[in-house]
Parts: sequence; C-alpha cells; structure tokens
Amino acid sequence: MTMGKALAHDSATLHVTGAARYIDDLPVPTGCLHLAFGLSKVARGVITAVDLTEVRTAPGVVRVLTAADLPHVNDISSAAHDEPLLATGEVHYHGQPIFLVIATSHRAAREAAARAKVEISAKDAILTIDQAVSLRSYFEGGPLTWARGDAEAVMPEADHVIEGEIEIGGQEHFYLEGQVSLAEPQDNGDMVVKSSTQHPTEIQHKVAEALAVPFHAVRVETRRMGGGFGGKESQGNALAIACAVAAHLTGQPCKMRYDRDDDMVITGKRHDFKIRYKAGVDKRGRFLAVEFDQFVRCGWSMDLSLPVADRAMLHADNAYYLPNVRITSHRLKTNTCSATAFRGFGGPQGVMGIERVVDHVAHQLGLDPLVVRQRNFYTKSKVQETPYGQPVKGFILPDMVKTLVESSDYHTRRGAVATWNDENETLKRGIALTPVKFGISFTLTQMNQAGALVNVYSDGSITINHGGTEMGQGLFQKVAQVAASGFGIGIGDVRITATDTGKVPNTSATAASSGSDLNGMAVKAAVDEIRGRMARLMGQLYQAKPREVKFKGGKVSVGQEILTFRDVARLCHENRVSLSATGFYATPDISWDRTIGRGNPFYYFAHGAAVTEVVMDRLTGENRILRCDILHDAGQSLNPAIDIGQIEGGYVQGAGWLTTEELVWDDTGRLRTHAPSTYKIPACSDRPEVFNIALWNGKNHVPTIYRSKAVGEPPLMLGISAFLALSHAAAACGETYPNLHAPATPERLFFAAKRAAK
Ligand code: MTE
Ligand code: MOS
Repeated sequence: MTMGKALAHDSATLHVTGAARYIDDLPVPTGCLHLAFGLSKVARGVITAVDLTEVRTAPGVVRVLTAADLPHVNDISSAAHDEPLLATGEVHYHGQPIFLVIATSHRAAREAAARAKVEISAKDAILTIDQAVSLRSYFEGGPLTWARGDAEAVMPEADHVIEGEIEIGGQEHFYLEGQVSLAEPQDNGDMVVKSSTQHPTEIQHKVAEALAVPFHAVRVETRRMGGGFGGKESQGNALAIACAVAAHLTGQPCKMRYDRDDDMVITGKRHDFKIRYKAGVDKRGRFLAVEFDQFVRCGWSMDLSLPVADRAMLHADNAYYLPNVRITSHRLKTNTCSATAFRGFGGPQGVMGIERVVDHVAHQLGLDPLVVRQRNFYTKSKVQETPYGQPVKGFILPDMVKTLVESSDYHTRRGAVATWNDENETLKRGIALTPVKFGISFTLTQMNQAGALVNVYSDGSITINHGGTEMGQGLFQKVAQVAASGFGIGIGDVRITATDTGKVPNTSATAASSGSDLNGMAVKAAVDEIRGRMARLMGQLYQAKPREVKFKGGKVSVGQEILTFRDVARLCHENRVSLSATGFYATPDISWDRTIGRGNPFYYFAHGAAVTEVVMDRLTGENRILRCDILHDAGQSLNPAIDIGQIEGGYVQGAGWLTTEELVWDDTGRLRTHAPSTYKIPACSDRPEVFNIALWNGKNHVPTIYRSKAVGEPPLMLGISAFLALSHAAAACGETYPNLHAPATPERLFFAAKRAAK
C-alpha cells in the first residue's frame, strides 16, 4: 500500500531541473497581448486629472483602459464588493491600480504605463495602527469582543498581574513564482483562464461577473503554483479579471504577470498586529484572568480580514486553559495595501500574543517559561473548553512536550545556556520551547466541502482530479497515494491532472490546511465507488460475493483467480460497467456563530512543539539559530517525507517572519521594502545548523483520511520558539523584561538587550 510511504513529490524532478511548467513557461498563444497596471503614487486622494495620451502613443500599445472603459462590474474583491479593479475617483493606497495598458509585449506595457500623467489631490492618509485607532477607522463600525467569565472582575484576585504590549510585523509572501494569469477567448464569448491561484472557482466567478456571463462560460485551470502561502487566495483575481476583460475587448489572448516590485507593492501581505495584554496569575503562574486587545491593520479594503482577525481571536488561547478571558479585536481600515491570507491566517498572531504573555509571566515570577506552559496546558484527563466553547478533545500536547523535552535534552541545555551567559559578556544565548495547537477547518462552515473526479481507462491507467490546487505542498502526491491505495495499485499508474473548474465545480480555496483532508476524502469516495462496481462485476463473473474480491499489489483476486488490475478495467469496459465516478465530502460535526463567538468551528486540532536555541551579539544585535528540535503531530502521516518538508518550511518561514523579514512603509505610505534587496527572507544559510524533526505519528482521534492530520500551516507557529529564544538571550543582558517586538531584527534586539540591562 502506498499510503503512509515517504514517496517524493510528484513534480520533485521537474522542480529541481527547472522543467516544471508554470504559467509563464507556457508557450504564449499566437497574437497574445501583455498587460500592465498604472499605479497610484499617492496613498490617499482624489484623482483630479488623468492624461494617458503618451501612454496610448507609446510603442506597442494596443489599448489603454480606465474604470470607465470596463464593460461590466468593476470589482475584484472576494466577497465585500469594495475593491475595484481600476480606481474610480479616489485612490486608497500607494500602489493601487488606476489604469490598464494592453500592449504587444510585457516590456512595452510596463514602459508605456510609466508615461502617464496622473494628478491626485492628496488627503491625509491613515497609515498606522495608532492613527487608525485614534481616528476610529474601523471595519464593521468598531471593535468585536468575545469573552468567557469576567476577566476584569477576577483580575484583582490574582497574586501577580502583568501588563504589556507587543508589535508584530506583517510578512510578504515571497512566492518564487509571482502573480500571473493568461486568458484565451473561445467560441461564443467563452473564456479559458489559466491562473496561478489557490482558488480557481473564485477566479471563475469573478471573471464571469466582469464579463456578465454565466459561470459555465468561464473555465479556469491551475496546474501548479510556485508557492502561494495564502497570497494566492484572493490576490490573483485582479490579474485574471484584467486578462479576461482585455481578451474580451480585443478578441486576443492576454497575459499578465507582475514584476516582482509591483507584486510586493500591489498585493496584500500578512496582517501586522499590535497586541495589548493584561494577565493575572496565581503564585504558581496559573492563569486566572487574561485580557487581550488585538489591533489588526487590515489595509484599505476588506479582502479576507474579518476571518483572519477571527482566527487570531480563536487562537488567543493557543494550548492554555484561560478560565476568565476577554478578547477584543480591532479591525482597522488604513491606507495601505489590503492585508490578506498568509499561512496560519491570523492564527500565528493570536498565538504570539499568549506565548508572549506566558514568557512575560515566567520572567516576572522567575520561573522557567516551560514550567508556566505546562502548568497552564489544557488537561488531558478532563476535557476543558476553549474560550469559544469548543471541547479540547484528543489533547496530546502534554505528552508530546514531555517527549520533546527529553529528546532535545531541554533541561540540561537550559542550564548550559545559563552558565554560558554567566561566563560571556558579549555573546548571549537563549533557548525556548513553544507549543502550538491549531484548529483545522474553515471557520466559514460552507467552505468545508470538496469534490473529485476519478477516471479509470480501459488499460487500467487512472487520472484523478479534485478541487484542491498544488502550490508545492504535495497535495497532489498525497491524494494520488490515496487513490493508488484504494485500487491497490502502484503510484505510477495514477496521473494527476490540473485543477479545472470544468472537471470539478463549486470548489473551495485550497487553504486552511484542509486540502488533503477534504480532497483526499472526496477522491477516496470516488475510488470506493468505482472499486465497488469492479468488485460487483468480478463477483458476477466468478460466482463470488463482491466483498471477496481483493485489490492488492496491482492484482485483483477472486478466490483462486488472480487478474491484473488492467484486465479488470478491460473487463469492466467490455461488460459496459462505468469506470468514471465523482466523489464528494463535507466535514462533519462543525458549527460556528461568529457574531457571538461560540461553537465548534474546528473538526480537530493539530499540535506541535519546538525547541530553539540561539546566540546573539549584544553589541550589534546580530544573531543566529544554533539548533532546533521539533516534534509535530501530522496524525498518521499520509506521506512522512512531504509532511517533514512542510514542517521544515513552515518553521523556517515562521522564524523568518519573526526575525529578519521587515516591512517598512514611509510616512507617505510608500512601501520601501519592495524587493529582495531590502526585504530579507531566510536563505539556506539561515536554517538551523542542527535541525531535528520528528513526527508524533499517532492516529487522529476523528476519522479523517487514513486518520492523518492537516500539516500545511501549523508548523509555521513553531518559529515562535526562535523569537522567544532571542527574547531569552536579550533578557540575559539584565534584570528587566526586554519587551522584544517582532520582527526581532538586529536593531530591535540590540535595543531590547539595552532595555533589559536598565
Ligand atoms: N507549502 C508550499 N511548499 N507552498 C505553499 O504555498 N502554502 C501553505 C501550506 N504549505 C504552501 C505550503 C498554506 S498557507 C496552506 S493553507 C496549505 O499549504 C495549503 O495546502 P494544504 O491544505 O494542502 O495543506
Ligand atoms: Mo493558507 S493562509 O490558508 O492559504
């Protein structure tokens, strides 16, 4: 059985040899035109004059469009209808598209766009969280609060009360393949769109809306993305719609890809947060009351900000039982790019809040933060509820942490770090163990469904298709293993095909880490259906009961008879038995009311824990990760090689977010870190020198696909251990709590160490 085998990613060879085809690698169709946006250079203002004469007369330009030239709806938003493709009257952020150039080459389009004369009468822009709060610039009118018990009333009973604030920066997705789309007009005004998107169905819907045609007139295809990380859940809409509209107006194929700088300026990023906290604990550091104010910079339009901010609230407890808790979320509207989904979808920011609180409490009480963590864990023996009322079932973190403490030799190494810090003035070390508990399911319940199409050909070869998209995470490989296991055949007989709205309709975004949970189950349903038909035929032909027909090792056996899978496929065809089936899955047992913040939004929780050790130079703030040990819960892993890859990548991406990746907007609202020259993602040399990763490999307690667990996002939060290890190193420079903010760049660390020494 191929299930659970550490097989390579189906495109591994193609990826590393450069042979994998991304949209920009496809041969362009004859007559293909290329597009570029003209962008606002002002963060907020009224457009007073647009002179595009020189753009129109530039070499290679075919046509130039403004909002007034769009044939139908001017909107690229996921749901809120608040985000025009091209600005109308006003601009809301520096980088907002104002006009669209259609030209004979990518370069001609970009060069022409630079010739525009746009006059904007600037208004005062709301850029920062503080400005937005003081001007009460909120989505939905004001803050949202969820609570359990009465934190404020209980607070005075606490033995210790700590208060503080942490700033948590945003994050650029930095997918290696930028945003790109290609639209090809068909007969009767139909449109085929190839898009680098996590959400082909939404692209289909938005293109249909822009062209005023029914959904069936638009087909969207996505073979693979060169990374998405949430940045292609909604941010591909603009390019796909621009291409489709331009193709519709010119009758020619149209392609658009953002230049890297434009991509960084135009598209949304991870939401940056400021979290204000107050926590009351008893003498042993156990929580009595916790209050959070999460300030969320959402940018100028709604995009996915509400569910992102919800998920931050839903993860404000992380792994800890908070008996009395108030969580208030401030969703702030600012004149910056519209922040969007990014691996963890707000969860990481929520987890950062409580992990900071634990760290602060431990410092105050002079305890090892690990002890405070363990004292506050949800209990395994008695099922407790989260602040939103979901029982925490199958809570294995206390056991996992115990195992990790031993395998990483945590206590000895913490002692060694203390000794080192006593003996060394300049180089300070730090170590931290942080856990993660992450809720799996879309909080919008209706999104938890998936469809699949499985075709067995008469030679026994198989194609599978489902609603999930491949962005490097190995979803296609895992789902192919599900199909191969179901038929008892080798993986080589299963062909994975591009995600296609014409094959499987009405799909959800590949997001919330649920790709393999949902699509694996849908494919299994289709496979079971076809295998059932095969077994019935074999039963008829060989006078056996269908359940006596066995599928294994590429063979089908009935009593003494052994046939190849290929023979059985041929026999089915000859006997007029259908070899094609669809499958469907909807996650059971979930319900959620976001207005009151109560329910069971998650089917289950995925867990993990990491120990990171770091060293920093207190004179410069320079630092590096020395060692990282991870124990992660992927349930009964569908493919341990792919899962470990997700854990490595997630950890490094999380550590990058909290250490080197800094986004800087100047006070005119212009993003100054818009290229790899100024925005520092982790390089190979930044990964931990010692990097030990193990899978917990216990079965999921709920019946997911082969009892596996989702693994895409949760490991990102393991990077928090790197941040808190740095905070520990800074704290070793003195007695005061260092109040480190994220990202912990060398400058921030330098000042945090100085604060500690005060
Ligand atoms: N891994 C790679 N290599 N590239 C990606 O873009 N995206 C992450 C995660 N892992 C991503 C990735 C995000 S944000 C999510 S939600 C999940 O993969 C989505 O895929 P899954 O549901 O199949 O895990
Ligand atoms: Mo992932 S942020 O849910 O695309």
